Amino acid sequence: MLLPPRISLAFLPTPVQKITYRDYPFLIKRDDLTGMETSGNKIRKLEYILADAMAEKADTIFTTGGEQSNHARATVAACRSLGLDVKLFLWGEQKDVVTGNIFIDRFLGADIKYLSYEEFLTADEIMKAEADELAAEGKKVYIVPEGGSSSEGVTGYIRFWDELEQQTTLSEIDEVYVAAGSGGTVSGLLIGAAMKDIQVKINAVSVLYSPEVLEGKVRHILENFIIKYAPELKLPDHQLEIIGGYSAEGYKQISGEKIEVLKDLAMKTGIILDPVYTGKAFFAFQDRCIAAAEKKNVLFLHTGGLFGVFEKNREYLQL
Ligand SMILES: Cc1ncc(COP(=O)(O)O)c(C=O)c1O
Repeated sequence: MLLPPRISLAFLPTPVQKITYRDYPFLIKRDDLTGMETSGNKIRKLEYILADAMAEKADTIFTTGGEQSNHARATVAACRSLGLDVKLFLWGEQKDVVTGNIFIDRFLGADIKYLSYEEFLTADEIMKAEADELAAEGKKVYIVPEGGSSSEGVTGYIRFWDELEQQTTLSEIDEVYVAAGSGGTVSGLLIGAAMKDIQVKINAVSVLYSPEVLEGKVRHILENFIIKYAPELKLPDHQLEIIGGYSAEGYKQISGEKIEVLKDLAMKTGIILDPVYTGKAFFAFQDRCIAAAEKKNVLFLHTGGLFGVFEKNREYLQL
């Protein structure tokens, strides 16, 4: 099977740490350490997305997300390192003082268009219309979908298994816990596991969509990838469990109960998780395995998001 080409952007391999928290040992794969400006899971996707953009001779990258989008920030930083122009279409409002990811976006001089929630729902069309206008001026725009979850993007998490295989014994891992937004990371993990016949169960903690909606998105991503790159691939049933109910406070919010756990984890291990993604995925893991004393060999995938902490500093300090 011929996978899409890659350019090197992330600092790989990321470490695998053995942690014991509340007497529960588990592995944590530190994909928060893929870089600083480019930290998190998104940069594994961007290695393939931007390789594709450059093969298409694009000079400008458009992408979309929430105001605190980790994907948008990683895209801006990666584009700056490659000399590409970049424009973000962000769900949010222009403010004078900003923090977290949007601060980095602005510091790196990204062109930003703010969208209302209704506009954000049609961001793909808005980006396409603007790309067409720029094409008339001789620019070549490459549009990266929300979360970078294109067929090229998911390839980052197919190749992830090759790296993990060098670091640990895969047959000794029963389950992976990972946060899911657009569904690209778990889709890549599923395809990669099928390609290598890895049996591990993938628990995707949905932070943005209902489990039904996320399931549909994952199915769509998998089908597109299979048509484009792997027509022979058969995916096993029941390897993925989509877990809902751990983001009831809202995508951009985090409850005090979860912050208590994140603070305790941080104080006992030094590891900081973010409010939108990894904090909720960890809370699900702690609820279902650690608090339930359910003995399993778990790998928790830390997908990054540190800049999101700053925007929630009052909540983190419980002020
Ligand atoms: C820190 C972090 N973790 C997890 C995810 C979820 O990844 P995906 O959109 O591939 O499901 C994201 C996506 O925005 C993220 O920024």
